[in-house]
Amino acid sequence: MKSIIVYYSYGGNTRSIAEFIRENLNADICEIQTVIPYTGSYNDIVTQGRQEVDNGFMPDLKPIAVDFSQYDIILLGSPVWWYTFAPAMNSFLHHTDLSGKTIYPFATNGGWIGHTFKDFAKACQNSNVKTGLNVRFNEANQLTSNKEIQKWIDTIRKD
Ligand SMILES: Cc1cc2nc3c(=O)[nH]c(=O)nc-3n(C[C@H](O)[C@H](O)[C@H](O)COP(=O)(O)O)c2cc1C
Repeated sequence: MKSIIVYYSYGGNTRSIAEFIRENLNADICEIQTVIPYTGSYNDIVTQGRQEVDNGFMPDLKPIAVDFSQYDIILLGSPVWWYTFAPAMNSFLHHTDLSGKTIYPFATNGGWIGHTFKDFAKACQNSNVKTGLNVRFNEANQLTSNKEIQKWIDTIRKD
C-alpha cells in the first residue's frame, strides 16, 4: 500500500510531526502552501484565521504536483484553527478528489481540538476516514509523546 502525507503548517509544528511520520512510515510527503502568505503578528493571524474559518474561506493554493491515483492511503495534517482544520486544508479538500482512499487525519493544537476530526470525516465522505491523531503543543513544545505518535503510525502500517 502506497501512502502520502499531505500537510499544512503555518508555524512549523505540523511540519515537524509530518516529518516524524514520514521517517517512521516511509511515506511520500507534500506540503500545502497558500499563494498569499499569512503576514503580521501572531495575534493578527489568529484574528484573520477566525474570520476565515467563520466564513468558510478557501485560500488559493500553490499547485501540487501529486498524482493521487498512485496512493491508497492519504495522511492529512493540519494545525487546529478555531476548532477545525486550517483554511488551507479546507481548500485542498474542496479541490481534491480523495474518494475511495483511506484517510488518516492528524492535527496539532494547543489543547482545544474542537470538531476537527468530525470535520475531516464530513469533508471526506466518500473516503474511509480512520481514527485521527491529536498532537498537543504548548507553543513550539510538543506535549504528546513520540511513543504515542509511533503507536498511531503502527496502526497505519498494519492497514
Ligand atoms: C489562527 C489560529 C487559530 C488557532 N486556533 C486554535 C484552536 O482552536 N485550538 C487550539 O488548541 N489551538 C489553536 N491554535 C494553535 C495551533 O493549533 C497550534 O499552535 C498548532 O500546533 C500550530 O501548528 P503549525 O505550527 O503547524 O502552524 C490556533 C492558532 C492559530 C494561528
